[in-house]
Amino acid sequence: VRFVVVGRRARASADFSLDDLPSSSGRLDVLLRCIRAAMLVSHGVRRDATVYLVLGGGPRAPRVLRVDGASAKFLRPDERSLAILARKSLAVEPGDAGFITVRPGVAVASGSLDVALDDLGTAPIHLLDPGGADLREAPGIEDPNAAFVLGDDSGFDTEARQTLTRRGARTLGVGPVGLHAEDVIAIVVNEIDRRARR
Ligand SMILES: C[S@@+](CC[C@H](N)C(=O)[O-])C[C@H]1O[C@@H](n2cnc3c(N)ncnc32)[C@H](O)[C@@H]1O
Repeated sequence: VRFVVVGRRARASADFSLDDLPSSSGRLDVLLRCIRAAMLVSHGVRRDATVYLVLGGGPRAPRVLRVDGASAKFLRPDERSLAILARKSLAVEPGDAGFITVRPGVAVASGSLDVALDDLGTAPIHLLDPGGADLREAPGIEDPNAAFVLGDDSGFDTEARQTLTRRGARTLGVGPVGLHAEDVIAIVVNEIDRRARR
């Protein structure tokens, strides 16, 4: 499973404070919690999960940080550890040649949502939105290549929605109430886990 989280103002550079993450990082904390929800289980890492964080804030934006469960090492569930990982990774200048691996399972690229979506190849794309069709009835979400795109605490902007529509994204919802992105991810992976057991 792949998740793409679009951070409209999350900093794409390493110049944020670990002691004041929410305000100094443009709410990168929201996106880091999405990594935890998508990739970390009680005793390990989901090796089949990949998360893309689209970082739209600060002088180096836009950039995309990709974390791949198949090869990631030393991923820890606490926000501070994930922030340290992001900060070290974002200190690297990726250039314009696509994703550059900066540590095992972690890569950075210059560019925005399109860069993440291009990296997904021909995967079916799902835009998560409270008004979307019910996830529980949705066919094909257990496809290992399926991709799910979420907004940050401020939701999607018009450009992101247009990009996703142009790429044929199907809109899915996990229920009528607007939730935090990390909680939406927990519900999506739970539904996929349940289908895998059937
Ligand atoms: C905190 S919400 C964004 C809230 C923002 N103020 C807005 O109105 O869009 C973060 C993201 O979680 C996803 N989301 C929230 N609730 C959802 C739901 N019930 N079903 C599917 N996705 C949801 C959406 O992708 C949303 O952009």
